[in-house]
Amino acid sequence: MDIILEGKKLNKSFKTGEKKTQVLCDVDFFLKEGEVLGIVGESGSGKSTLLRVASGLEKPDSGELLYKGRDYTGSSPRQTGEFLQILFQDAESSFDPRMTMERSIMEAGRGKKDKEELLKLVKMAGLDEELLKRKPGKLSGGQCQRMAIVRAFYSGAEILLCDEMTSALDVSTQAQVMQIMQRLKKEGKLSAVFVSHDIALVSEICDRIMVMKDGRCVEEGETPEVIGSPKDDHTKELIESARKQSIG
Ligand SMILES: Nc1ncnc2c1ncn2[C@@H]1O[C@H](COP(=O)(O)OP(=O)(O)O)[C@@H](O)[C@H]1O
Ligand SMILES: [Mg+2]
Repeated sequence: MDIILEGKKLNKSFKTGEKKTQVLCDVDFFLKEGEVLGIVGESGSGKSTLLRVASGLEKPDSGELLYKGRDYTGSSPRQTGEFLQILFQDAESSFDPRMTMERSIMEAGRGKKDKEELLKLVKMAGLDEELLKRKPGKLSGGQCQRMAIVRAFYSGAEILLCDEMTSALDVSTQAQVMQIMQRLKKEGKLSAVFVSHDIALVSEICDRIMVMKDGRCVEEGETPEVIGSPKDDHTKELIESARKQSIG
């Protein structure tokens, strides 16, 4: 499988007043075509910042970003939007409140007007096409998240960067969204980075897992390897605490 997205020695720091915090330290990552890469790590470890840097929402202080081997470091979100889309926890706020779903999604297609494809995607997402006439405020959180997936695919972007995309949803809605992700994956349509604090979800959908701690990648490997025999102490702790949560 070819590498579709890659980050090399990414560094990012934030300055608040006099204090400078290094949030990403020499982070390397790669995503192969058709693969789902999980990123786990405790809160504040730099997961969201890594996705924001990879999508052009933040500029790295140093390091390189590559899409299919082509350098895109410094590109704007508008430019990266041609090949990647970010899905956030709060899908509703990623839609313009004044626009109907249909219009928002059509706009993401940059002038493409393919109603047939849109309806196909809506159906695939298990949504009623009537919902396309509504504005985001008139959809549930789960419906908005599924519309965001539809929008991402309609845009033609090949890569999804998912940041805690199911964290705001109740358990059964979360399962519906994961089902769509699984279906897309089975069809070979999904190249994605899946960030979540939920190790159980990550191990369900991801082929490979990267563990972050304090802005560094501390462990990386195939999912069964990382979950079954974690090498890093921090990874062991994360898995252990997830186990305790699922029992208690
Ligand atoms: N825009 C910002 N300005 C200042 N600090 C930030 C900013 N974004 C993130 N941080 C800091 O970077 C660290 C990592 O944050 P984040 O990437 O959101 O971690 P995670 O997603 O793993 O919880 C945190 O300490 C956070 O406070
Ligand atoms: Mg985060």
